[in-house]
Amino acid sequence: MVSGFITFEGIDGCGKSTVSRLIGQQLQNEGLHVQLTIEPTRTWLGEAVRRSYTEEINPYTEAFLFLADRATHTDWIKEKMDHGNIVISDRYSDSTVAYQAALFHQKLGGSMPEYLKWLQEVSQPVIIKPNLTLLMDIDPEVSLARLSGRGKMEKFETLENLKLVRKNYLTIAKNSAHFKIIDASKSLEEVTEEVWKIINQEL
Ligand code: TMP
Repeated sequence: MVSGFITFEGIDGCGKSTVSRLIGQQLQNEGLHVQLTIEPTRTWLGEAVRRSYTEEINPYTEAFLFLADRATHTDWIKEKMDHGNIVISDRYSDSTVAYQAALFHQKLGGSMPEYLKWLQEVSQPVIIKPNLTLLMDIDPEVSLARLSGRGKMEKFETLENLKLVRKNYLTIAKNSAHFKIIDASKSLEEVTEEVWKIINQEL
């Protein structure tokens, strides 16, 4: 029974949703049991989270909503792993650390590295450590250009914000051995191939 936990992270428009789906399919083709999941989740908790970013809200309220959704999601992930699944999550804990540290800094002032550290600490009781985290790294100008054809931009999708979020992701990755950084500006085929190679080496 093979189980594991893989997370995909990166700024909006980095392509992680497409790549994670393709990788999930490839693992299934190898005969493995795969559960694809996403944050915010498609539950009422995730619904509450998504509602929070359509309005101006206290940044701590927003951060705790992400954590509330994650706590229950983590229980679900553990259960799936106990039953021999490889769980692939499109966003997980590092999204909160990278995005909310950037938002706190912009809204409240103060040091981003300190918010980052605090968010990592406060997340500890509600997370498990992934076996592998794939950071799809891309210049925000490129990712925003990819998103521009999609219509309405979301609250987090500004150049200024995504530059800070990217910086946070790279800081987190530098200090975590389970992170692999992927150049997400390459073609979908190249990115998927590289991720597949890493998964085969690491798992
Ligand atoms: P989505 O519903 O379009 O996937 O939006 C997810 C957005 O929420 C994306 O801009 C990243 C942001 N986000 C956070 O700010 N913190 C988090 O913890 C998570 C999971 C997502």
